[in-house]
Amino acid sequence: MENLNTTFSNLFGDISNSRLFFAPGRVNLIGEHTDYNGGNVFPCALDIGTYALARESSNKKCRFYSLNFDHIGIIEFNLDDLLFDENHNWANYPKGVIVEFAKLGLNLNHGFDIVFYGNIPNGAGLSSSASIEVLMGTILNAYLKSDKNGVDIALIGQAAENKYIGVGCGIMDQFASAMGKNKHAILLDCNTLKYQYAPFELSGYKIVIANTNKRRGLADSKYNERLAECKEALKIAQTKHSILSLGELNNEQLIELEPLFDNKIVYRRAYHAVTENQRTLKAVEALSNNDLMTFGKLMADSHISLRDDYEVTGIELDSLVKNAWDQDGCIGARMTGAGFGGCTVNIVSEDKVDNFIKNVGNIYTKETGLIAEFYIVNPSDGAREII
Ligand code: GLA
Repeated sequence: MENLNTTFSNLFGDISNSRLFFAPGRVNLIGEHTDYNGGNVFPCALDIGTYALARESSNKKCRFYSLNFDHIGIIEFNLDDLLFDENHNWANYPKGVIVEFAKLGLNLNHGFDIVFYGNIPNGAGLSSSASIEVLMGTILNAYLKSDKNGVDIALIGQAAENKYIGVGCGIMDQFASAMGKNKHAILLDCNTLKYQYAPFELSGYKIVIANTNKRRGLADSKYNERLAECKEALKIAQTKHSILSLGELNNEQLIELEPLFDNKIVYRRAYHAVTENQRTLKAVEALSNNDLMTFGKLMADSHISLRDDYEVTGIELDSLVKNAWDQDGCIGARMTGAGFGGCTVNIVSEDKVDNFIKNVGNIYTKETGLIAEFYIVNPSDGAREII
């Protein structure tokens, strides 16, 4: 916090009129690659995320600076020219949100000076980009005194990512960041946006995130490729069912459709989306019965489906997960987020966490030559102004 204050006053002067905001990252417990298929997801917001110290400026200029990208320096733009600009790098995310607000008639007549700081690893699948979108939405909502709620802000963030950044992501990440609740996870039906909070206090257990530290490279284009494959599967399913998304099918209905799929890869993508959707509901039910063992088993099934049918894991994620399964005290482990690198989520007995980190970390380095990082996280509240 001190660093934010000092940096702000060094770069932009007086901090007395500034306001501080926070938007969390998220971890998805189960329900992967189901959101853009109209299915269920079960993420929680984290106690790590992105902070921003913001102050209105007297003209239409915006000056954004991130402590995470200090080598890039201050990014400057004018509200009269909000076109996507590659040179603006990370600042395109908050810029896209300004554009989406404007489309709703919520126009700014002044710019902002903002210093951002994220204590969430960038591009590691914990929604650093969704957190900055939701953060900007929360800032604009506060300054414009508009009446957008958390769900609206999530949708605006998603629109910015889809239209301005060009990644066809679903709603999960922005929703979790905007709507998170302390000590709870969120069961969200991405078709209707109906949601309910489920207590996620695991007495005696910790949520441990393991970061592969693998550069994700072509992740965005691979993500869009899966999206296209699911669209193709939906078209085939629609020849027999009047549905708007794969999430409306149950397992039996999909299996009956298999002969219609000439391309078996497309069938396997749909198979993952449909079974994962059902698994998510079962997992939440197991949790409500305090049946952590079943919850953990379903996490493993989810990973296997993502590995074999959806094919979004890779040797790094598979190494972390397989070795996590072998550890004493680990009751559930799977990849989380888009995949192709990024992180795994693990539920580990509190007294075994140190050993877990040591063992999984060592074997991972032997198997991949990379060094994994571990974070112990807690389900937390969604985006807010910090007063
Ligand atoms: C990324 C996307 C989400 C979701 C996950 C996979 O995090 O942003 O919308 O599709 O991948 O579950």
